[in-house]
Amino acid sequence: MTAGTAAASTHQARFDAAMAADERIEPRDWMPDDYRASLVRQMAQHAHSEIIGMQPEANWITRAPSLRRKAILMAKVQDEAGHGLYLYSATETLGVGRDELLDKLHSGRQKYSSIFNYPTLTWADVGAIGWLVDGAAITNQVPLCRCSYGPYARAMVRICKEESFHQRQGYELLLALSQGTPAQHEMAQDAVDRWWWPSLMMFGPPDDASAHSAQSMAWKIKRHSNDELRQRFVDICVPQAEALGLTLPDPDLRWNEERGHHDFGAIDWDEFWQVLKGNGPCNEQRITQRRKAHEDGAWVREAAAAHAAKRASGRPGAPHESTASDGSGRESDEAQVEATA
Ligand SMILES: [Fe+2]
Ligand SMILES: [Fe+2]
Repeated sequence: MTAGTAAASTHQARFDAAMAADERIEPRDWMPDDYRASLVRQMAQHAHSEIIGMQPEANWITRAPSLRRKAILMAKVQDEAGHGLYLYSATETLGVGRDELLDKLHSGRQKYSSIFNYPTLTWADVGAIGWLVDGAAITNQVPLCRCSYGPYARAMVRICKEESFHQRQGYELLLALSQGTPAQHEMAQDAVDRWWWPSLMMFGPPDDASAHSAQSMAWKIKRHSNDELRQRFVDICVPQAEALGLTLPDPDLRWNEERGHHDFGAIDWDEFWQVLKGNGPCNEQRITQRRKAHEDGAWVREAAAAHAAKRASGRPGAPHESTASDGSGRESDEAQVEATA
């Protein structure tokens, strides 16, 4: 055995031991190339989904029916931008730059969740997205708080807290519509009818057709299988739909005493693969809009880079990094006064 292969096997043994002991892997730890690549793929796809997911709902900000609803929706859409930022930052700890990831998104080489390729046709869709889409996201993401890669797990803790608010605002919005006029009730039901099945698809293909699932579970990136999480989501939603006074569009949905779970109808996987391949109702619109937003934001990135360069040059009068621990910026102001005095 050469010195190189001996070192590699020691690294691998340490990594395996950390996995077995349920310890976190941190950015400076050695990790297998495949583990790193798998994390980059999943985290990038997750980050992309957060920022693409801003589009269908932002579509309704100008048409929110009240100031209160508008303020809530704006806060939610901003949260999603923040989730994208946490996740791009977490992915950077694996040695992949944000530019590279965005470039892959814009050129179709990396994917985002297929759910965001469906249109938001009415105001009730904002409620259905909050209740079902954010609800499915929480079901998927709570276990990721225990993911083996430290920066991803820590990003998920904060994201899940915010997703929980998103889910509740959607539920509350749908409840108001469901208990409103007959036309409002009908609008809520129509939105749930359209979003229910795509939400179930968010958990990914069935376990036996899921390419990355088994390895991701062995690496403790994923903690539960797609089908397991989908079942959990269905079981959570059924009583909530009842409380909302809305029906889930599945004639096969019923409680199975023996299994202790709800049985549900067959998912149209053909539709899922079609949307994933780019043939969903809004794929083209979403990417075109994303590219335009990126191009329109070029001046902001240039200004930020120029500002950072100026700060790094340490010229008198250049803004200094804050050293204030209370976040007030006071100490930094004093430092600047001293520097320019
Ligand atoms: Fe999010
Ligand atoms: Fe969300």
